[in-house]
Amino acid sequence: MTQTQKTSPEAALHQPVMLEETVQALRIKADSWYVDGTFGRGGHTRKILELGGKVIAIDHDQEAIEYGQIHFQKEVDEGRLRLIRANFAQLENTLTEQFSNKTTIAGILFDFGTSVDQLTNQERGFSFTGNGPLDMRMDDRLGVTAAQLLAVLNEEQLTEAFKTYGGEESARAIAKAIVSTRTKKPIQSTQELVKVVERVKRHRGKLHPATKVFQALRIVVNSELESIAQVLPAALRQLSPGGALVCIAFHEGEDRLVKQFFKVASEKSLGSAMELQKPTSTETSLNPRARSAKLRVFYKSEEPNN
Ligand SMILES: C[S@@+](CC[C@H](N)C(=O)[O-])C[C@H]1O[C@@H](n2cnc3c(N)ncnc32)[C@H](O)[C@@H]1O
Repeated sequence: MTQTQKTSPEAALHQPVMLEETVQALRIKADSWYVDGTFGRGGHTRKILELGGKVIAIDHDQEAIEYGQIHFQKEVDEGRLRLIRANFAQLENTLTEQFSNKTTIAGILFDFGTSVDQLTNQERGFSFTGNGPLDMRMDDRLGVTAAQLLAVLNEEQLTEAFKTYGGEESARAIAKAIVSTRTKKPIQSTQELVKVVERVKRHRGKLHPATKVFQALRIVVNSELESIAQVLPAALRQLSPGGALVCIAFHEGEDRLVKQFFKVASEKSLGSAMELQKPTSTETSLNPRARSAKLRVFYKSEEPNN
């Protein structure tokens, strides 16, 4: 059974976040090449194609690529879309492999994090609702699952991960509970982990008590922040003069990296950063996932030497 077949019926529900703002920021020109570094279900890619742009679409999740091959077959056949399974951290290698001569890239988009389809597929272990193996790898070629991390990290390392990547206030207590539980039985399913967290933390407010722990584990399993830190300078190098680098972040760790990188690049006169944009209230009421989105745009200088 392929991963695509395992996808839940909600799979078609991923709504591209800040779609209009994104394509406006990218300033789509017909027949120019754009990179969508986080293809997902191709919501943003589809809009770029509709506006006449051509797209190099990257995703490290085989399921996303299979989805694209089925639902974007026409655009692939027409040569307007190239679908590539890769980590966006390898952007420069990917572009070198795709084009024998250096090609003009008019805009690059990153819509970070996971897609709704990844979250709702219980087999993938991203979600604290439902039950499934504690996997959390977006790229199943990666070596270490969340269950394996929970088995080997010590109390100190778990505490640090929950604090740094989840902002979890009860990080130490949860780490202790994990270490004590696993001496009796390994924690292998999402619900086993939820139960451990719930022993330490009560439901308060809207946020599920396991939200931050799940977020932290996912970020560590997929080395998410390392990939972002690696790709931002590479993306700026690959953009043509005047090109747009558009990033949509969903939590503080992602946004801090983008904001800091754009600030330093502006100080070096490599281009200019635009004002932070947030989704409209209409969008957040229709798509609650958009609530935490922060969109930042950097326009590379027109000066070819920068
Ligand atoms: C929020 S979704 C993108 C949704 C997409 N914009 C759409 O409208 O359908 C993020 C996607 O980026 C992919 N992704 C996350 N980190 C990645 C990385 N380092 N390299 C390649 N793809 C990545 C995930 O697998 C996921 O499919």
